Parts: sequence; C-alpha cells; structure tokens
Amino acid sequence: MYDQTLFRPLRVGPYDLPNRIFMAPMTRSRADNPENAPTSLHALYYSQRATAGLIITEGSQISKQGVGYINTPGIYSAAQIEGWRLVTNAVHEKSGHIFLQLWHVGRISHPDFHDGTLPVAPSAINPHDRSYTPSGFKETVTPHDLTIDEIHAIVQDFKKAAVNAISAGFDGVEIHSANGYLIHQFFTNCSNTRTDAYGGSPANMARFFFEVLDAVGGSIGFKKVGIRLNPSAHGFFGITIDQDTIPTFEYVVNRLNDYPDLAYAHLVEPMLPVDNVPYAVKDIAKHFRPLYRGTFITNCGYNAESAHRIIAEGYADAVAFGSAFIANPDLVERIRIGSLWATADTNTYYTPGPKGYVDYPTL
Ligand SMILES: Cc1cc2nc3c(=O)[nH]c(=O)nc-3n(C[C@H](O)[C@H](O)[C@H](O)COP(=O)(O)O)c2cc1C
Repeated sequence: MYDQTLFRPLRVGPYDLPNRIFMAPMTRSRADNPENAPTSLHALYYSQRATAGLIITEGSQISKQGVGYINTPGIYSAAQIEGWRLVTNAVHEKSGHIFLQLWHVGRISHPDFHDGTLPVAPSAINPHDRSYTPSGFKETVTPHDLTIDEIHAIVQDFKKAAVNAISAGFDGVEIHSANGYLIHQFFTNCSNTRTDAYGGSPANMARFFFEVLDAVGGSIGFKKVGIRLNPSAHGFFGITIDQDTIPTFEYVVNRLNDYPDLAYAHLVEPMLPVDNVPYAVKDIAKHFRPLYRGTFITNCGYNAESAHRIIAEGYADAVAFGSAFIANPDLVERIRIGSLWATADTNTYYTPGPKGYVDYPTL
C-alpha cells in the first residue's frame, strides 16, 4: 500500500535500506551494571526490531562527564564496546542496520554523578529542571561554564566515542544535538550567553556542533554520520525559544549542505504544542526540508498515514517512530499489512529488566 513511500528502498550513506520506517533513539535505562555496559538483553531488544529500515539506538554517553541518568549505556570503555558488539552482531544477523546515538547531557546532569563536581555547559545557567540521579530525582544546579580547552576536550571525546562505535560494529553514529542537551545548549540564548567564539552570532553558537561534526566525520567518514536537531524545543530542560533560535537552526541546516556525504539530518517536530509560542516553527519538516539537499528524516507523532503523506509530499525521505517501536517490535510488518498498533506502557520505559522491554509480542 505504501510501496512508493514507506517501502521504497533508501540509500543512506553506504547502505541500501529496505524501507523508510526508522526506529527513533530511545533511552531505556537497562544498563544497570557498574560498567553501564549493554548486555544480551539489549541485544535481544534491538534484534527484535531489526526490520526497521534503520535503528538509531538510545543516547549513549560519550564520557563519564556526559552522563545524566542512571543505567544509561556509555560508549567510552572497553566493557561498553564489548556490550555493544553483542547488539550490533544480533542486529546484523537479522540483516538490520544500526547507528549509535552519541550523547552528552551537559547541564542536565547532577554533581551526584561526578563526585560532587559540577556538570558542564556553555554558560553558568541553571536549567531549573530535574536530574534523575542514583538517589532519585534532584533539582539541577548551576553548571560550570566550559573553558575553550574544555570544549576542545569534549570534541575529542565525541571523536573517540565515534571510533569506539565503529569498533563495536555500528554502521554509523547519530550526533545528539537535540532536546536540550549539551550541543543544543550552545544553540540557544537561554543557555548560551558566551561572548567568545562560541556565543553571540549563529555561526558562533553553531561552532561547537560543527567542530564535533568535523571531528566525528573526519575520523569515521561523513557517510556514517547523521545528526539530530529539535529547533522548536521549548518549555523543557530550561530551553526557551526567542527571536534568534530559528535563525540559528536555519544557519545550521543550511550549512549542512557543505557536507554532501553526511548520512542524514534528523529533525524532530515540536514535542510540546507551540501554537502559542512566539518565534516557534510549527511544521519543522515543511520549514527545514527545503533548506537541505541531503537525506532528511522527520520524527514525532507520526502514524502510518501521516508518515506516508509527508514522504509523498516530498518533505522527508524517511520517518522515525519512537514509542510505536517500543510496543510493536514488528512495526514494519504491521504497517505493511495495515494492522493495529499496540500501545506502549510508559511505566516501564526506564525500569530495569525485561518487563516492558523485550516482552511485547509480535502479531
Ligand atoms: C522512552 C523514550 C526515550 C527517549 N530517549 C531519547 C534519546 O535517548 N535520544 C533522543 O534523541 N530522543 C529520545 N526520545 C525521543 C524520541 O526519539 C522521539 O523523538 C519521540 O518519542 C517522539 O516520537 P514518537 O511520537 O514517534 O514517539 C525518547 C522518547 C521516549 C518515548
């Protein structure tokens, strides 16, 4: 039924993907071991979903400093690389493709994760949100504003993490530059008041992102690198939109055209309603797709029909599905035959163990 849209093969980087139904990155907090390493449980979860055109994994911290939640996996230690290898082998055995999402939460962390030292951010501005620490939810704090040397060190952490991902067998990586985490914190005035080369103009606010992109793409090849943006994020993690926000994201997306080999740009529609938010863009794909010449992925709130339509109208090349993939490991098959989708249980999104993780049945 959707032969010309969702089921039309798509070339992404060096890969021929059988469909355009992608699995969105989703934190599931099952790495509840001292190493924060993925396990055979992760391998089972992702392999159950291997019919997705492309799986993008949960955000994985690039360093100890990058962590912001309990039990999220990392990609900076040997044990984590070994754990991820279980996952990539299991997905590849089923002929799937899988990218790892590289994550640094910046100021959405808490001193409890860092022996009492402060989380880091472009500027010393408390997001006034909550961080989920080993001893439960705690108020966020005013972060340490990064020095230029510290910024350069984080760029290197992203690069090392990308190299680790490739050695763990991933087909590529997605740079998490969305949802109010560290890279996003550089893009917005509410979190970045720097007066040096990393703040002020759109080019300066985008500098850290492009340094990360250059370092990651320069080491593993841009064909294996995707990026994720959420331009209309507003009202969570201390992120608010102002008159400069969308122009900064337009600058970023325009400049992505200088990277013709980039695997894809993945843009998220507003996660919260923005009808009454001044300066926000309501239809992200319709606004940003025309600015970018590469492969464009859209996400957030789609069903099969609306996903078909956005591709048919030319506003996206693929659609990523989030919660639908939690509850429907065989989502691709369900879309193919037009069957109903199960609903995910939000109570088990982040709880340890198999319940609500690998026990959703196929049709
Ligand atoms: C349980 C859960 C965890 C998530 N974790 C991440 C994450 O690690 N990285 C990310 O970029 N987005 C994350 N998201 C956002 C999803 O990628 C996606 O944008 C969101 O679910 C909207 O898509 P949907 O309407 O198809 O579910 C998460 C969403 C959910 C439901």
